[in-house]
Amino acid sequence: MNAIEIRNLSKSFRGMYAVDHLNMTVPVGAIYGFIGENGSGKSTTEKLICGHLVPDEGEIKLFGKDYTDAGVRVRVGALIENVGCFPNSSVYQNLRMQTINLGLENPDEEIRRVLEIVRMEDNANIKFKSCSLGMKQRIGIAMALLGEPALLILDEPINGLDTDGMRIMREILVDITQKYGCTVLISSHILGELEKIATHYGIIRQGRMIMELSAAEMDSRAQVFVSLKTADMTGAEAVLRERFDTVRAEDGYLRVYDVENTESIVDYLMKNGHVVSEVRKNKIGLEEYYIELMSQKEEE
Ligand SMILES: Nc1ncnc2c1ncn2[C@@H]1O[C@H](COP(=O)(O)OP(=O)(O)OP(=O)(O)O)[C@@H](O)[C@H]1O
Ligand SMILES: [Mg+2]
Repeated sequence: MNAIEIRNLSKSFRGMYAVDHLNMTVPVGAIYGFIGENGSGKSTTEKLICGHLVPDEGEIKLFGKDYTDAGVRVRVGALIENVGCFPNSSVYQNLRMQTINLGLENPDEEIRRVLEIVRMEDNANIKFKSCSLGMKQRIGIAMALLGEPALLILDEPINGLDTDGMRIMREILVDITQKYGCTVLISSHILGELEKIATHYGIIRQGRMIMELSAAEMDSRAQVFVSLKTADMTGAEAVLRERFDTVRAEDGYLRVYDVENTESIVDYLMKNGHVVSEVRKNKIGLEEYYIELMSQKEEE
């Protein structure tokens, strides 16, 4: 079953499509990385899924049911844009108010549960305004986790966090899916971070889903290349081009793509009078793959 299934979803503002006949499929249990440039329609899509905006057309199904179904709505938790907390109230008081809004039974037990998940069990009595950005983001996630949602929608939760903050957030998100079986939709610009946890990706551009793929598919598409240095880079490049299909000069290195055997390249250059001073095997990460994909789309 899919946690989210969107078909032909559109939303326009002042005659301009923010979301343009978008399709999206998020399997249950996935950490789905939702990637796109500024203004590409990520937040709008998320708001539509959460019912904060009404679509112009299209279909949104959550766990096989229409997204307006009351039974399904209570299974969705979200953190979109700012965390809606009272600055002068404590973390506990903010969570307590939300348990009242949601009509939860055993509120204290539930608050303890979510604070534990976001590693903030010792910070319940701190005022919200005294919390660091990383803590505030985690409180936002704790708020969204109240009531044990099966689907969590997070809009850029790692923006602005330092390395440690991002690491904790990563651990939390993996816990949420693995220990609690929750599905997570997460939009982010920080592709290098997303790559460490995402099981699936959706790439949106100008309101349209241009590609959806699993992490395994991404991995197989991420090309392996060999980068090397020689004294005469121009000469070596010309020699390599005679033998290999894709050769590119980049960041002071020569890159040869689609190569299984590093030694054969070094050997080939040696035979043609070029001594290789530095060589290493690389893999294109999500960031680079995304940039290449975007530049291809621009050329189209
Ligand atoms: N309430 C609104 N009224 C008018 N236009 C809007 C509204 N919300 C979004 N838009 C427009 O819709 C488009 C998509 O915006 P959206 O916020 O969904 O993009 P995004 O991918 O989340 O961008 P970012 O990465 O900057 O957060 C943008 O052109 C934006 O200006
Ligand atoms: Mg946004």
